[in-house]
Amino acid sequence: MALSGKTALVTGASRGIGRAIAARLAADGAFVVAHYGSNDAAAKDTVAGIEQSGGQAVAVRAELGVDGDIDTLFAGVERALAGRPLDILVNNAAVLAGPINQVTPAEFDRLFAVNVKAPYFIVERALPLLRDGGRIVNVSSAATRIALPETAYAMTKGALDVFSRNLAVKLGPRGITVNTLAPGVTDTDMNTWLREAPHLVEKSTAITALGRYGQPEDIADAAAFLVSDDARWVTGHWLDATGGLHLGPGGFHN
Ligand SMILES: NC(=O)c1ccc[n+]([C@@H]2O[C@H](COP(=O)([O-])OP(=O)(O)OC[C@H]3O[C@@H](n4cnc5c(N)ncnc54)[C@H](OP(=O)(O)O)[C@@H]3O)[C@@H](O)[C@H]2O)c1
Repeated sequence: MALSGKTALVTGASRGIGRAIAARLAADGAFVVAHYGSNDAAAKDTVAGIEQSGGQAVAVRAELGVDGDIDTLFAGVERALAGRPLDILVNNAAVLAGPINQVTPAEFDRLFAVNVKAPYFIVERALPLLRDGGRIVNVSSAATRIALPETAYAMTKGALDVFSRNLAVKLGPRGITVNTLAPGVTDTDMNTWLREAPHLVEKSTAITALGRYGQPEDIADAAAFLVSDDARWVTGHWLDATGGLHLGPGGFHN
């Protein structure tokens, strides 16, 4: 119970990677505020799963990327924390969009509103609540290390990477670590093609050193390290949690 007595806010915790991170932090003893956007049933399942395993969590609904989003979120967060400080913030919620010729200006704005503007102002609002010695983890993507077709999405994650490094310096004097966690191909609703296009699965696993795609729990375990005391001397780091996606030309080795 490494996180016993601690509190955590995980955005986008109703499904996928965020749900797995919320479950793992709760299993480690944290009281988790599980944020979500609109899927009440999924959020309920996240909380029920945590409670059935003996953990504690509360769901808070707030659509990000719309006017008043941060106010709505923090009204719920502060109610859930009931005066306790926040120890851990995981900025995980994000949306994906297609390649350059398929993204309208409105979609582009929404991508940046949800993936960049929201985490920025969530951190800004969380700072007075965050305990000195706390943890911030921003969930980025392998898309900032390798060129993928989803250009605008990758650009939002690039902005998040810069944000993390900058924040790590700014918050160091308070003992708050800020790190970036970068998943690769992971089995979530964001990647419906994993369930629908076996030939693409084959292609992506062929360029992954560990020879498979990721599960949300693979990412959650890496997040658990970053928020643990074991990672107290790690800040400003970009942690590759991709199983070795596109590290080099595999053919040279085999
Ligand atoms: N899956 C991958 O292969 C992969 C790879 C690299 C990086 N990532 C990153 O990992 C993170 C999690 O991805 P995922 O695959 O787990 O996503 P997901 O399965 O699509 O889940 C997205 C989560 O974010 C919430 N969310 C989405 N848009 C929102 C909005 N406008 N306002 C509030 N909440 C919103 C959703 O809430 P609702 O349930 O209420 O809709 C849900 O909880 C993201 O930052 C993503 O960019 C994923």
